[in-house]
Amino acid sequence: MCKRAGETGERSPGWVGESRDETFKTTMTETTYLSNDPHKAVRNWLYVLFALIVLMVLVGGATRLTDSGLSITEWDLLLGFIPPLDQSDWMAEFKLYQTTDEFKLQNSSMTLAQFEAIYWWEWGHRFLGRLIGLAVLLPLIYFWMRGKLTHWLKIASLSLFALVCLQGAIGWWMVVSGLVDRVDVSQIRLAIHLTTACIFAAATIWVARSVAPHTSSGSDDGFNQAGWLILLILLQIFVGGLVAGLDAGMAYNTWPDMNGEWLPDGLWAASPFWLNLTDNALTVQFVHRCVAHVVWIAALAHAVWLAIAEPGSLHARRGLVLFVLVTLQAAIGITTLLLQVPIFWALLHQLGGVLVLGFATAHCRALRPVMRVEEMPSKVQSGPAYGSI
Ligand code: HEM
Repeated sequence: MCKRAGETGERSPGWVGESRDETFKTTMTETTYLSNDPHKAVRNWLYVLFALIVLMVLVGGATRLTDSGLSITEWDLLLGFIPPLDQSDWMAEFKLYQTTDEFKLQNSSMTLAQFEAIYWWEWGHRFLGRLIGLAVLLPLIYFWMRGKLTHWLKIASLSLFALVCLQGAIGWWMVVSGLVDRVDVSQIRLAIHLTTACIFAAATIWVARSVAPHTSSGSDDGFNQAGWLILLILLQIFVGGLVAGLDAGMAYNTWPDMNGEWLPDGLWAASPFWLNLTDNALTVQFVHRCVAHVVWIAALAHAVWLAIAEPGSLHARRGLVLFVLVTLQAAIGITTLLLQVPIFWALLHQLGGVLVLGFATAHCRALRPVMRVEEMPSKVQSGPAYGSI
């Protein structure tokens, strides 16, 4: 049976800012730590940010499911947050929309009132995007100026800000792909947009949990397994984005087989063959099902491994919860498919995806020790030292 780093007194290698050969010393109890918790405010900021990102993913999903994503044809960072205020503003926006292929080919009978409904979804999504940008930037400046950020936290927070900017740029890159010559955005760009949003959410949780009170850290093997699980879940989210972007959930609505076939004909119908992985709805849905099985088996194996290697530990319990969450997520996915993608189930499935990823990230990070006292700025260091607790 493997020992945990906290039990052996050794530090496990491989986490940010930690030297690999140093002896780890637990220097205080959990009670002392909690009463001197130097990063509570920073953590709360990051948890609020995570909640905003989850909300953003949901509004993004609703924007897609209501076919609202192409209703605003321009991107203006500052003025774009002001919605149309009077009839002439609305008419001007509607005229712009009427130049798109989506309107000409698919929505030519749309009324102004119908246009307003789809406009508000897209506007809400962009408004939340700006809000999240500010929710990263303003507290970052505040905490930085108050000396609340360690060197590592400064770099981590700046990286989160870079991720928000990147996410906005990818969002616009996605919208542009749908404005000319097609009536929908590129499914590949949609999947990338969804995946980077989820990476952003996971990174937020990772940073928050890096400066959170911990129980003793887990073994390297457990940590590596949890890391692989995160990557698998991200892959599944990416493929899920392709399924959504191709409306592939509207077809092959049987489970566990696909319209009576286990290995359906037409999986490799497109040429060259790799195009099937991104453009063939049948193949994309098939791959999403296959990866779901791999994620489920990996989560089960990880939970069983932790239960045997670290029996009774909090890590083992978290591993079990993660497996239950993955199982629930798969059940919601199957329901979404069997019901032919009603908005409620599709949104629940999307929410489940980001929550499963968030939990897997928190679980993975908990298998490593908290940040060392040497990495605290001087103001914070005046409290007692702390380590993995
Ligand atoms: C391991 C678990 C799974 C994860 C993490 C996952 C994740 C996702 C994500 C993130 C999306 C994109 C949602 C969107 O953009 O609207 C998606 C779409 C979808 N998934 Fe899954 N999925 C899982 C398992 C399954 C299973 C087992 C099925 C059914 C056999 C399934 C069926 C679907 C369908 C039909 C869609 C398209 C929904 C839409 O058009 O909005 N998923 N999945």
